[in-house]
Amino acid sequence: MSGQNVNTPPSLYPVPEAFAAQAYIGSRQAYDQLCAEAQKDHESYWARLAREFLSWKQPFTKVLDSSNAPFYKWFDDGLINASYNCLDRNVEAGLGDKVAIIFEADDGKVTRYTYKELLEKVSRLANALKAQGVKKGDRVVLYLPMSVEGVVAMQACARIGATHSVVFGGFSAQSLRDRIEDAGAVLVITADEQLRGGKALPLKAIVDEALAMGGCESIRQVIVFQRTGGNIQMQAGRDVWLHDVLAQQSAECPPEFVSAEHPLFLLYTSGSTGKPKGVQHSTGGYLLHAALTTKWTFDLKPDDVFWCTADIGWVTGHTYVAYGPLALGGTQIVFEGVPTYPDASRFWRMIESHQVTIFYTAPTAIRALIKAAETNEAVHPRKFNLTSLRLLGTVGEPINPAAWEWYHREIGGGRCPIVDTFWQTETGGHMITPLPGAHALKPGSCTLPFPGIDAAVVDEAGKEVPWGQGGVLVVRKPWPSMIRTIWGDPERFKKSYYPADFGGQYYLAGDGAIRDAETGYFTITGRIDDVLNVSGHRMGTMEIESALVSHPLVAEAAVVGRPDDLTGEAICAFVVLKRPRPTGDEAKQLANELRNHVAQEIGPIAKPKDIRFGDNLPKTRSGKIMRRLLRVIAKGEDVTQDTSTLENPAILDQLAQSN
Ligand code: WTA
Repeated sequence: MSGQNVNTPPSLYPVPEAFAAQAYIGSRQAYDQLCAEAQKDHESYWARLAREFLSWKQPFTKVLDSSNAPFYKWFDDGLINASYNCLDRNVEAGLGDKVAIIFEADDGKVTRYTYKELLEKVSRLANALKAQGVKKGDRVVLYLPMSVEGVVAMQACARIGATHSVVFGGFSAQSLRDRIEDAGAVLVITADEQLRGGKALPLKAIVDEALAMGGCESIRQVIVFQRTGGNIQMQAGRDVWLHDVLAQQSAECPPEFVSAEHPLFLLYTSGSTGKPKGVQHSTGGYLLHAALTTKWTFDLKPDDVFWCTADIGWVTGHTYVAYGPLALGGTQIVFEGVPTYPDASRFWRMIESHQVTIFYTAPTAIRALIKAAETNEAVHPRKFNLTSLRLLGTVGEPINPAAWEWYHREIGGGRCPIVDTFWQTETGGHMITPLPGAHALKPGSCTLPFPGIDAAVVDEAGKEVPWGQGGVLVVRKPWPSMIRTIWGDPERFKKSYYPADFGGQYYLAGDGAIRDAETGYFTITGRIDDVLNVSGHRMGTMEIESALVSHPLVAEAAVVGRPDDLTGEAICAFVVLKRPRPTGDEAKQLANELRNHVAQEIGPIAKPKDIRFGDNLPKTRSGKIMRRLLRVIAKGEDVTQDTSTLENPAILDQLAQSN
């Protein structure tokens, strides 16, 4: 059957016939049918898939419980274990000797782990956690490099019903401390150091610093994975080596079956206000969507070699590294390093050497590698044999059509569909994405909602707007992998995602969107709140402002985003000091000092690219900072808007010249 829609407008890239012929969802009609099934009976549709995709210890009898909306529950009385679904059942199905993970270290060393080996590693660590007194429902913070140990630690927590909270290894001691305290974690698993781009970077030392700050008294133990053998301090009574605790443990650990609603993990992400929020995910509903989207969006087949380049510190590394591919018994790459080391051909070299078939990365990485290839022929993808690839994907931020075209042509050889997957930490898995055998593609568009996801573009009143007109992206019906609450702050959950302005009925994604007038395809137009997206990393402007004003010299700060060719958005900070406005070399030196301060407070990813000093900030007479004007100045454009409500219009010129 051809997946090509006869009505495909010429501007679209049709589904390659060969791809459609072998795809799980191989035509637009097949997609439409699934959507119709979900439309007819939302609950039965999801229940069918939950039975087909997951193995239950005790089947659920109730599908969706809306009695305490928006705190929805899915499959609540079903008993399940995520680690059993990702490991044991694959071994039981005869996949014990199949390679689950091909690990490539920063220095290029490759290690393979079969499902059987992974199950043993996970069971040993699960037993070790139990021996340290970790119980079902306890929170365990993971501060680890991109590693097999990281995946194993997540699975080991899941195995005993502990809730993991991974903190990205690039976050500072302060950020780590805040997350440990908020989660009330009992144990931290970390490594001595992490290796990235040939450099050893501290992890354990940062844990020490975080725990010394106070507020982390709930922590009883720190387990340390020896990655580099670097020199670190071990605190007697608190710190233990991973290899020591594993040595005493059996390689068998019966999984703890939990309610489908049991929190599998917390993952902190940025919102509109200063404090990061602990997004809480369930076990059953989350795992269902992880498995389902891995199968349908990536068309993952038993002999595929899947590679998602995301770090386990982000949600993409949760759903499409730690859970989705394993739940399906797939083979995947886990890569410790960075795309530019030893040079910018690392990805292409690895695709060739591991015969990768499905490749999933972020637009920022693609843009950086385009730039590198343009200036250095030796790292150009055409130097490598990439013919093993059959599908490409992107995630995390909008992809500009030029980068899309390059990715399609140079990496996909013109034959691989690209799935531009729109989703969020809160949604657990793909929300709007092409199914590669079903949808003709439009560069820059994430095309259509995943079957069963009722996404719509609405106006402020919650009314759907016509195609071709921009609005706010919402999801009208609950779905299994949705965020359950913000850890410890249910009110904030309600206010952030089900605000009264939209009748309290719809999940508010926080993004703007527009549907193509002809095809109905969705294009995401960017965040509608104070969240920036820098290189696909979410940063709250208020978080960065708080970090800046915590510096003793800073009186006031306002942070906005501006477009950046490479990173999508760049952070631009406007700062008023408690001393006269610096200029020249002094301004440069102070800007650097503030950047380092932000890195200390949050992490290097939050460092502002531009810092502009002013005597003041543009404010209304009531004292509100006019961020709209700051965004114009940040872009280097002239302010043409009405500034008559400004208290101090002269400040605009000063800030415009301050770069
Ligand atoms: C943005 C990452 C355009 C969006 C999985 C969203 C995207 C935020 C896309 C979530 C895409 C993610 N096209 N924008 N394909 N995917 N975004 O929580 O603004 O780190 O709200 O989850 O990234 O970022 P998060």
